Amino acid sequence: MDRLRVIGGTSLTGAVRIDGAKNAALPILAATILGDSPSIIRNVPPLSDVKTMLSILESLGAVCSFDMENNVITVDPTTINNYTAPYDLVRKMRGSICVLGPLIGKFGKGTVSFPGGCVIGQRPIDLHLKGLRALNVSMNINHGYIEASTDDLRGNVVFLGGRFGSSVLATANIMLAAVKAKGTTVIESAACEPELVDLANFLKAMGAKIDHAGAHSITIEGVQNLDGVDYTVIPDRIEAGTYILAGAITRSKVTIENIIKEHLWALNDILTHSGVLIETKDNSITVDARSGIFKPLDITTLPYPGFPTDLQAQMMAFMISVKGISVITEKIFPDRFMHIAELNRMAADISLEHATAIIKGGTPLSGAPLMASDLRASAALVLAGLIAQGETVINRIYHLDRGYYKMEEKLRSLGAQIERIPE
Ligand code: EPZ
Repeated sequence: MDRLRVIGGTSLTGAVRIDGAKNAALPILAATILGDSPSIIRNVPPLSDVKTMLSILESLGAVCSFDMENNVITVDPTTINNYTAPYDLVRKMRGSICVLGPLIGKFGKGTVSFPGGCVIGQRPIDLHLKGLRALNVSMNINHGYIEASTDDLRGNVVFLGGRFGSSVLATANIMLAAVKAKGTTVIESAACEPELVDLANFLKAMGAKIDHAGAHSITIEGVQNLDGVDYTVIPDRIEAGTYILAGAITRSKVTIENIIKEHLWALNDILTHSGVLIETKDNSITVDARSGIFKPLDITTLPYPGFPTDLQAQMMAFMISVKGISVITEKIFPDRFMHIAELNRMAADISLEHATAIIKGGTPLSGAPLMASDLRASAALVLAGLIAQGETVINRIYHLDRGYYKMEEKLRSLGAQIERIPE
């Protein structure tokens, strides 16, 4: 398994370009199933999660090609002849669950392995099942698989509010079935993440009738046919936020290019409050943290447009570098703190009270051998390594490769001392 080796203490300079959004690309690739003709999806980086989704589409019988030089994917769904997404692929990536909606929307049936949990939490799918049942889909759970079918997919009013406010992929799944249902569907307490707006825009380009995606109440009028289209995915706000925090933690001035500034308000607002200079232009952000003196922070992760849970670990790394007591409360995935133990191995001083982390910042970090545990925790360990004294080696970085394309190359282009050590 590849490892990353980081030598801390170097400030960064220059600009880095952000790739397409993993969490938009995955449901959009699933949505290609609905087309009566091939789709071309652009601006998709060759991430391992993307490759897993393509393997699932191919296991269904679709014909896929991936031009990884130009980040262009072609999916021909007209050859799909299998309606079961297998366990050995679904277990690699929970996002696979969103092939269920389009399989039902197009074929009236679909079987998907019940996705397991992961280190960030239980990851239940009760809202997915509740929403699909509301559209007159019957579901059985047999031998670890969800077997869904309907011979009369009908629109309905579906309330998707859960204990955590809303669900991103449950909203996607219901949208992906409802676009082909008879009549009108209203998704109440829908998730509002930009990646869902991108999915809705893709579906509308295919011919779907969707209103108010991005709001808490989405209306969908079912249609008979959807055609494949040529579509470009939005930039990845979480990758962008990770590099903004790399600039902040190393007390550098760097520019992050190819972003949508509206998607980063929460992060930029909180960093500005701390004293970091943030300058936004149309599609770039320049972070200037060279002053070095910042205020500790108190953050709670929330559904969009609140502070994203996917930047919680990376923000914690930044907080370690800020003198004083900072607090992070995780409201989306209360167990999403695997990074704390590893950061404390670097001499950080972080304690956990239920879903609230207390960070006593300002003590220097020392480089150490570390173990990556999940995608965003891995990114936090890289950020901490950038400022630690000496060498940090991060093992199992296949977790990182799920959502960051060649992070070591991008950071090295900014001046970081970082290299990938192949197995
Ligand atoms: C999506 O996961 C993202 N993944 C996650 O990003 C992200 O952290 C999450 O949304 C929240 O923004 C993809 O888009 C592929 P949820 P999702 O359903 O849809 C609970 C990353 O690092 N819940 O919005 O699976 C759930 O347990 C990944 O890129 C139910 O209770 O997340 C959680 O507490 C990690 N029942 C909360 O809702 C359900 O049926 C929000 O989860 C579904 C979810």
